[in-house]
Amino acid sequence: MTTHQQLVRTLLRQGVLPPEWHEAVASVDRGLFIPEVFEGGDFTSDPEGWLRSVYADVPVVTQVNDGKPTPEGGFGLFTSSSTMPSIMLEMLALLDVREGRRVLEIGTGTGYHAAWLSHRLGARNVTSVEFDEAVLSTAVKNLNNSGHHPTTVLGNGHDGHPAGAPYDRIICTCTVRNVPRAWLEQCPDGLIVTPWGSSYFSGSFLTLTVTDGRARGTFSGDPAFMWDRTARPGAVPLGGIGRGEPGAPGMRSTTDIPPQNVIQDAPAFFTGLSLTDVRYRWCQADDDSGEATLRFVTDDGRSWATVEYVPDAETYEVEQHGPRPLWDEVRHEFLRWHDLGAPDRSRFGLSAVTGTGTDVGAGDDEQQVWLDDPHHVVARAGTRMSPPAACRPTARD
Ligand SMILES: C[S@@+](CC[C@H](N)C(=O)[O-])C[C@H]1O[C@@H](n2cnc3c(N)ncnc32)[C@H](O)[C@@H]1O
Repeated sequence: MTTHQQLVRTLLRQGVLPPEWHEAVASVDRGLFIPEVFEGGDFTSDPEGWLRSVYADVPVVTQVNDGKPTPEGGFGLFTSSSTMPSIMLEMLALLDVREGRRVLEIGTGTGYHAAWLSHRLGARNVTSVEFDEAVLSTAVKNLNNSGHHPTTVLGNGHDGHPAGAPYDRIICTCTVRNVPRAWLEQCPDGLIVTPWGSSYFSGSFLTLTVTDGRARGTFSGDPAFMWDRTARPGAVPLGGIGRGEPGAPGMRSTTDIPPQNVIQDAPAFFTGLSLTDVRYRWCQADDDSGEATLRFVTDDGRSWATVEYVPDAETYEVEQHGPRPLWDEVRHEFLRWHDLGAPDRSRFGLSAVTGTGTDVGAGDDEQQVWLDDPHHVVARAGTRMSPPAACRPTARD
């Protein structure tokens, strides 16, 4: 039988549903939060298909392109969803939620998560902020149908909700580039959990412990959340880059760094601390040659680079185009990471302060990423620690 209990059984079988969340998850029916038509299909005449999608441990995308129609042949950007239940439970474990805590959620979405929180903590302890008016209005209807009435707020999550502060916990369900100062002010002693990153690498949860307006945190997990609507990466499609681009050809060189090495988890995380406005994609050749092109582009679309991977080659062809030599920049960060001893992502941490807090060397509003020890700062939010030594392609790396 495919029912809400089926979802609970799946989560139990996966070992991801802890006892303290069992009752809330078992009591809140996910079906009350998912419409018959969503990104996965139109289920108005396929109730069995709807049950299979809704009561599985999968994300359900409920809005694309901010609710605007997708142009013919265009790309449908996911802009709201019901998060995959096991990922929500992973975030809640990081959040260390306990009875009586006051929680601010950023990104109401369908309201499903806010209903879990309300069931466990009491609706009076839950506030949820959503940017999109239509999304919020549906969420409020869903929440009412489920019998939960947390405080819901239409607004930019960056501002938090000062009227309900202070909070013991803040949980954000969209990816942010920086921790807004308002969060630190409104959660001066507690925990903040959010997907965090840059255009280059956004696959980390940041868990911050805040004490007296001073926050320190660590990175974990492998989330793939939709972006904060006010801080999305550029939209230049990466697939076509380097293929018959008009204008002058780019600067050509070669590198002996196998391109796949620079996009492994830890170096990609490290590079993304500095190259916050660069995206990349590994494009496998559509034959069985094993060849691939690694493409990079800046969010403004003005600079791009490609590196051609050929199996068993000793060097790889590089092309760079536009005002910024992107491969040189990536290479610089990769070598810097290597010189640090090729550390794992789990060894990095972040410090942030509000105007009233103090932290090691951190100025007002500054966010620093460090390695192992807060004194060993390796990046300041959104800035490069030093420019690449050589911003011109070398004949050979
Ligand atoms: C993954 S969905 C939320 C899932 C939700 N927790 C649930 O269980 O249904 C992320 C939501 O964040 C919202 N969002 C994005 N940027 C925001 C911002 N700056 N402030 C508030 N909400 C934002 C999106 O509109 C979207 O509804």
